[in-house]
Amino acid sequence: MLKIYRGEILHFLADPAKVDLEQSYQHFEDGLLVIEDGKVKQLGEASSLLAALPDDVEVTHYQNGLIMPGFIDTHIHYPQTEMIASYGEQLLEWLENYTFPAERRFEDEAYAKDVAEFFLDQLLDAGTTTALVFGTVHKASVDAFFTVAQQKKLRMICGKVLMDRNCPDFLTDTAETGFNDSKALIEKWHNTDRLQYAVTPRFAPTSSREQLDKAGELLSLYPDVYMHTHLCENKKEIEWVQALFPENKGYLDVYDQSKLLGRRSVFAHGVHLHDEECQRLNETGSAIAFCPTSNLFLGSGLFNLKQAEAFDVNVGMGTDVGAGTSFSILRSLNEAYKIQQLRGEKLTPFKSFYLSTLGGAVALDLEDKIGNLEPGKEADFIVLDYHATPLMERRIRQCKTLHEKLFVLSMLGDERNVCATHVLGEKVGERVDEKVGEKAG
Ligand code: GUN
Ligand code: FE
Repeated sequence: MLKIYRGEILHFLADPAKVDLEQSYQHFEDGLLVIEDGKVKQLGEASSLLAALPDDVEVTHYQNGLIMPGFIDTHIHYPQTEMIASYGEQLLEWLENYTFPAERRFEDEAYAKDVAEFFLDQLLDAGTTTALVFGTVHKASVDAFFTVAQQKKLRMICGKVLMDRNCPDFLTDTAETGFNDSKALIEKWHNTDRLQYAVTPRFAPTSSREQLDKAGELLSLYPDVYMHTHLCENKKEIEWVQALFPENKGYLDVYDQSKLLGRRSVFAHGVHLHDEECQRLNETGSAIAFCPTSNLFLGSGLFNLKQAEAFDVNVGMGTDVGAGTSFSILRSLNEAYKIQQLRGEKLTPFKSFYLSTLGGAVALDLEDKIGNLEPGKEADFIVLDYHATPLMERRIRQCKTLHEKLFVLSMLGDERNVCATHVLGEKVGERVDEKVGEKAG
């Protein structure tokens, strides 16, 4: 069964910072996306593709919108959904006062399922179709998350948090139980449908060396699972890591010693990185999740995107809810732009939308499956409504170029602009503004 969508279509083929801009993306003013069995079959100009299709085929025509690949969120905490926007602290106090008490409730699998359901609907509403997700220390939190993600046919990566010290007793595992629980979850869920597992030490301060070593052991036992943690987010955190691991030459080196770097390793934040650390991230193919709304909300700092680019480190966008203040990647792009402005740098809208789609897929080593709409890719895509608000409608009317339209979307856009989200070619949710049933030809 073919599913066919018509409208303005944009996707990326490469990082616009690395190739000629025109080579980095494809843009069809009147494009056609043909999907078969959940995968992209064809993509091109409507005029040429329609002629080759049977007359009676049904086409869904999206007008005043932009069809593009679903957003990819490379760092988010589902158990922090209900504590988003908690007042007044920076990282370490925020964890103590708000985060740990909120995460305690996830020992209850029924509660965890309820939050997972709501969380995934929030992501889909925001146009995000794949995410790399923190659970809590509780095994049940990951069972709940994967159960719901599987029902929704989503491509998701999640893991049980490892933390065996410097956190409340009610959230503490041990090197041994953390290893065994993670192993059981990998055996149960990893590569089931579109689900994949991430070994998830919270961050260096909450794991003993023994626990980090055991995390490394899991990665060598299961070489295609992910590693997901936090790195160099906050100055006080970095000082604490230095005091806890005096034998290491820096924060990243703590993880490196336990063999936690690699092509499927994702480090959230990396706001305060030395050049040698960027070099090491590059050598190992590791990625950074850039989390603008979180970095501003917790006062962590201004991410140095140019440094990451100079060392050719893979970067994806992350919302980091609940330290992040929105599920919307568009809102993250707004703050990403302002962060680069404060650094005296420009973030072009092409780079922004690349980071949100194909860049995220590369960061997650999933560029053969998602991130753009090349034939063979999984058909997770969204439609962004240019006319979502009266202001946007007026502003977009003034735009003469794609560059301008994308920039306006990234400055003014949010969930209101996501008028449809499609998972494996099927529309999910009901916020539709479309003309269905138009005949081809
Ligand atoms: N570092 C360790 N844990 C966390 C967390 O839950 N959120 C953020 N933003 N940073 C962390
Ligand atoms: Fe985080």
